[in-house]
Amino acid sequence: MKNAKVLIIGAGGREHTLADAYLKSKHVGRVIIAPGNDFIPYSLKERYPDKKIIIEKDCNLKDPDSLLDIAEFYTSDLIDVAQDDALASGLVDTLKEQGYNVFGPTKEASNIESDKIWSRLFMERHSIPSPSFGFFDNTAKAEEYVRNIYSEEPDSLLYIKASGLCGGKGAIRAENIDETYAAIDLMKTFGESGESFVIEEGLIGEEFSVFAISDGNNYKIINTAQDNKTLYDDDKGPNTGGMGAHSPALVTEDIRYKIDEELIAPVIKGMAEEGVPFKGILYLGGMLTDSGLKVIEYNARWGDPEAQAILPGLQCDYYELIQACIKGDLKNFNLKTDDKTRVCIIGAAKGYPDNPIKGCEITGLDEVMETDGVKVYGAGIKVKDGKLYTSGGRVFNIVAEGQDIVTARKKGYPLMGMVTIEGNNLHYRTDIGIKDEKRY
Ligand code: AMP
Ligand code: GLY
Repeated sequence: MKNAKVLIIGAGGREHTLADAYLKSKHVGRVIIAPGNDFIPYSLKERYPDKKIIIEKDCNLKDPDSLLDIAEFYTSDLIDVAQDDALASGLVDTLKEQGYNVFGPTKEASNIESDKIWSRLFMERHSIPSPSFGFFDNTAKAEEYVRNIYSEEPDSLLYIKASGLCGGKGAIRAENIDETYAAIDLMKTFGESGESFVIEEGLIGEEFSVFAISDGNNYKIINTAQDNKTLYDDDKGPNTGGMGAHSPALVTEDIRYKIDEELIAPVIKGMAEEGVPFKGILYLGGMLTDSGLKVIEYNARWGDPEAQAILPGLQCDYYELIQACIKGDLKNFNLKTDDKTRVCIIGAAKGYPDNPIKGCEITGLDEVMETDGVKVYGAGIKVKDGKLYTSGGRVFNIVAEGQDIVTARKKGYPLMGMVTIEGNNLHYRTDIGIKDEKRY
C-alpha cells in the first residue's frame, strides 16, 4: 500500500510517538491524530516533509460518535485506537461495525483494564499470580472486610481501587484502618467508576512493565520498561500518569521467560478460551515480590510514557506489524527491536497533577530536537504564532538513547536543563532510570 492514511485516537506523548512510528513506514503518507496536540505537527513536519500530519481537535475521547465523524471524513486505511477512555467507550466495536480496519481490543476485551473487578476475577479463574482481593459496591460490607483483615494482621498494607477508569487516580494506598475507611469513602468521588471497587493486598517489591502485541491467538513480547508514577524523586508524592520511564528494565532481564509463562501467556490463552480474544497491545504492570511474580494490573494499550521509551527502538515497519496483527498473521511477522536503552523524562507544568499552570511560554525545545539520538514528544502544548505554551499537566517528553542506561541518562538530563517554562514553572524528576543505573 502506498500513501496509506492512518488515524490515531488519543492526545498525548504516546500518540505523538505512535504518529512518529507510523510516519516512518514506507506505506504511510498521512497521519491524522484525534484530538492530538499542537506539538505533533510542529515537531514532525520537518522530519517528514513529504507526508501530511493533521490533528483533529474537535472530538471527545469518551464519545464514540464524535470520533466516528472524523473516521468518516478521512476514510482511513487504518484506525489505531490508542487511548483507554476511547477503548472503554466501545469505539473499536463501533468502528468495526461500520467496516473500518481497526487496531485495538473490543470493549469486552478492554475490560482487562477498564473493569478491575472483571480483571481480578479473570486472573483468579486462570490462576495468574495476583494479590488477594475482595470487591464491593457497598461501604458497610467493605468496612467489615477490612475490619477482619486488620484484626488478624494490624500492619496490613491495602490498595483500594475504583473498578472503572479514573485517569490514573483511582488506586489509593492505605496503611491502617482509618486510611482504609477514608479511601473507601473517596470511591464515591469517582462517580460511576467508583460505584464498585476492589480492596486488595498491597504488594512489596519492584515494579516493571511488559508490552506484548496479540492477534487474539498468537502474541509477541515487544519490550520491557519501568515507569515512575509518583510526582517527586524517590517514589515520593502523589501518583501521576507517569513522570518518566526507561526501557528495557534490567529487573526483568533474567526472568523474562518466567514473566511470559506466568503473566502473559495465560492472559492471551484465557481470553481466547473465554471467547473474548485480546487483539491489541497488552500492557502488564507487574511486581517482583519475595513470593514471586505478581500482577498489579493489565492495561489494554500502550503505556504513556513507556511507549515513548520503546517504540523508537523498533526495527520493523510499525504499519506492517499492525496490519499483520489485524489480519491474524502475527506468527509470521519478524518483530525486531534494537539493543539500545532509552530514557524518557517528562517535563511537567508545576501544579501537576491537580492544577497545572497553563498558558506559560516554553523555550528551548527546538534546540533539544536538533540533538542526535534524541526525540522530543509533546502532550500539553499549544502553538500560537510559532511559539509554544503549556496547556496541560504533562507538557513534553525528552527521550534519549544510549548503549546503556548510564549513557542514556547522561544524554537526556543535560537537555532537560536547556528547557524552561516561563515563571520557573517546569517540574521534572531527576531520578528516572536511576535504579537501573545503580544496578548496572
Ligand atoms: P493503578 O492505578 O492500578 O495503575 O495503580 C497505580 C500504582 O499503585 C501502581 O503503579 C502501583 O505502584 C500501585 N499499586 C496498585 N496496586 C497495588 C498493589 N496491589 N500492591 C502494591 N502497589 C500497588
Ligand atoms: N504508564 C502508566 C499508564 O500508561 O497507565
